[in-house]
Amino acid sequence: MSILRSSIHRREGCCSVAGERRITLYMDDHLAPQSTNLTRSSTSRQRDDPNDVSVHQFIAPLAWKTVSDKRYLCPKSSKDEILARCGQQEPIPFEKTLASLNAVVERKIGEGVYGEVFLCTKPNGQRSVLKLIPIEGSHLINGEKQKTYEEILSEIIISSEVSSLRQQNVQFCTDGFVELQSVHCIVGKYPERLVNLWQEYDQKNGTENDSPAEFPDEQLYIAFETAFGGTDLDGYRFRNAQQAFSVYTQVLLALAVAEKRYDFEHRDLHTGNILLEPTKEPERTYYLLGEEITIETFGLKATIIDYTLSRIVYNGLCLFNDLSTDEELFTAEGDYQFEIYRNMKSALQNQWNLHAPKTNVYWLHYLLEKLTSLRNYREKTSQVHRVAMRTMKELSEVLLQFNSVHEIVSHYFVAPLNESNKEN
Ligand SMILES: Nc1ncnc2c1ncn2[C@@H]1O[C@H](COP(=O)(O)OP(=O)(O)OP(=O)(O)O)[C@@H](O)[C@H]1O
Ligand SMILES: [Mg+2]
Repeated sequence: MSILRSSIHRREGCCSVAGERRITLYMDDHLAPQSTNLTRSSTSRQRDDPNDVSVHQFIAPLAWKTVSDKRYLCPKSSKDEILARCGQQEPIPFEKTLASLNAVVERKIGEGVYGEVFLCTKPNGQRSVLKLIPIEGSHLINGEKQKTYEEILSEIIISSEVSSLRQQNVQFCTDGFVELQSVHCIVGKYPERLVNLWQEYDQKNGTENDSPAEFPDEQLYIAFETAFGGTDLDGYRFRNAQQAFSVYTQVLLALAVAEKRYDFEHRDLHTGNILLEPTKEPERTYYLLGEEITIETFGLKATIIDYTLSRIVYNGLCLFNDLSTDEELFTAEGDYQFEIYRNMKSALQNQWNLHAPKTNVYWLHYLLEKLTSLRNYREKTSQVHRVAMRTMKELSEVLLQFNSVHEIVSHYFVAPLNESNKEN
């Protein structure tokens, strides 16, 4: 029995649901690992799974165009595709967008190289988040060229697809990716209120970004409105390692679902891109290839964000960020995070369109390294803490032998189907 299996107590066992197996997994605080049989054949497995839904072809999105009374099937422009997804004919002014959100922008809560992130509150008290990314302009943003319509389109599609995995579906289902509520294409001067909130954030936390007040009046932006996912994992103070391990498992299972459904690779799953929020829900459920997998939350819900570097196959189209000529990303030192970019480059042989689910495994290994080296757990002396910490450390030692998250799930989380599991 493997270490992770032995740390998981199957409360309900297996039963058949609509011809598929339902498996409920519980991390048991009482069970110490009974075996240290962690060795695993390092022989890499072939991707010959009959359930594999991969599509490895590259077809531009097509739209009918009429030229001199003849209809041609032409690649649709990225701008048109984005406007269609925004439900707009043209970019709309900032104030109109803010009014349509029906929300008050409260404060800036985060930033990235390309975007500013604001927290909003709706009249019913619900919180949402607005991520604003300038596009198409010649004005450099934080020393970088602005993204084009074409470059931001993949982030829009990926955000929308992985968010839609929360829709009830017994094959592939997870709400582990942040919920995308709307996308807008905006034109105009950055509103004064947002500039003020930006300055407040700068005074309190400091910023690495240029002031958005510098953008010209005709600047275009893409606004992503998402659900509020909590605070990021960077510097989070967990109750104990059991809670951290639950967060780890939540991230792992969400990744497994998207990886199998879309040949998804996140490619930038550092601790700033995992959000944590307290939850009263005692458990969380995932569907992976028809398997229902339920795990305990121990009071924390994890949400994955930020698909700037991510890759999926969507409607036969591979969407990815070509990092092959990026020099800076692969030369940084000082944190295991930077080694992961180099590991990805080598796994992909610098061909970023390819699918190497090992990149997801590298990020999961990075996450385990972070969680096992944290020194700020609140209840470090408890038995549950020590057991979960040992489990994570042992898992960390074997994790890189796997080539995909699906392989990890198949090995640790899903019992092999045998006669006694079958009801029919
Ligand atoms: N839905 C959300 N809920 C809560 N906080 C969020 C949310 N989205 C983003 N944030 C906060 O804003 C930060 C930046 O967001 P995000 O990672 O999406 O931006 P980015 O510009 O893509 O950053 P990067 O430089 O990592 O590419 C996050 O690390 C997080 O702290
Ligand atoms: Mg980020």
